[in-house]
Amino acid sequence: MEKLIDSLLEAGDLFREGFHSAKEISHKGTVDLVTEYDVAVENLLKERVSKLFPDYTIVGEESGDEFCRAPKAVYIDPIDGTTNFVHKIPFCAISVGVWEDGRPIVGAVYNPVLNELFYAERGMGAYCNKRRIYVSDTSLLQQSLVATGFPYTKVEMGHDFEWVTETIKNLLPVTQDIRRLGAASIDICYVANGTFDAFYECNLKPWDVAAGILVAEEAGGKVTNHLGEEYRLGDPVVVVSNSRNHDALIDKLAYYRGRKDGETRQERG
Ligand code: IPD
Ligand code: CA
Ligand code: CA
Repeated sequence: MEKLIDSLLEAGDLFREGFHSAKEISHKGTVDLVTEYDVAVENLLKERVSKLFPDYTIVGEESGDEFCRAPKAVYIDPIDGTTNFVHKIPFCAISVGVWEDGRPIVGAVYNPVLNELFYAERGMGAYCNKRRIYVSDTSLLQQSLVATGFPYTKVEMGHDFEWVTETIKNLLPVTQDIRRLGAASIDICYVANGTFDAFYECNLKPWDVAAGILVAEEAGGKVTNHLGEEYRLGDPVVVVSNSRNHDALIDKLAYYRGRKDGETRQERG
């Protein structure tokens, strides 16, 4: 853990330099941006991480590595929240999550701009800047501040777009409010430290969630897919909560998806 944190702090210097300077911006998709810093931070981290975890498959977002369910894998998002990074909005982070046999064992999310370092090891609790963190204790959805995000596929106005808009329609009146900060790894860590009471998003990639999931679980949170089942990397929706409000949130998310798939929770009893 300590050596992994050293690597993140080193990569964070490069990240911070990029955040404050002019950058070369290219498009991976219509609205999916990438800068030379995404690539440089990933290369640096891959080099360091491959020495720390020699027998692990390393999956980095910018290397075009295919998502795999290798028994031992490290998932790297060099800049989670690239749109924020480009617009100089200080919610962006480096995310590194280590998984073994389908479960996270080590995770770290570092926002070098705000100097917030979240990390966890399985069974050892969750921390932000060396202080133990815990989820909130709000049980009512109506009093829950819920974060979410919008997948890049929204531009196609297909199923993901419909799911996002219908879900917001369902949730907005029955939550305290909804937030969209722009970096899934931070959203999840903000559930872990009690800033948010819950988070959900569809179509996230393993590198977005691999680290945050462990931080949230170790802080007392619950992580499932939209049906309330144990979350597996690659599932269509991730739901992270303080655990007390989880079922109420799942009901709102599962209903729409279920209805669309012709199978509601109510029908299944
Ligand atoms: C994105 C961010 C964003 C989420 C998108 C992700 P990126 O990651 O986490 O909050 O809504 O779905 O793809 O592309 O900035 O690494
Ligand atoms: Ca990401
Ligand atoms: Ca990224």
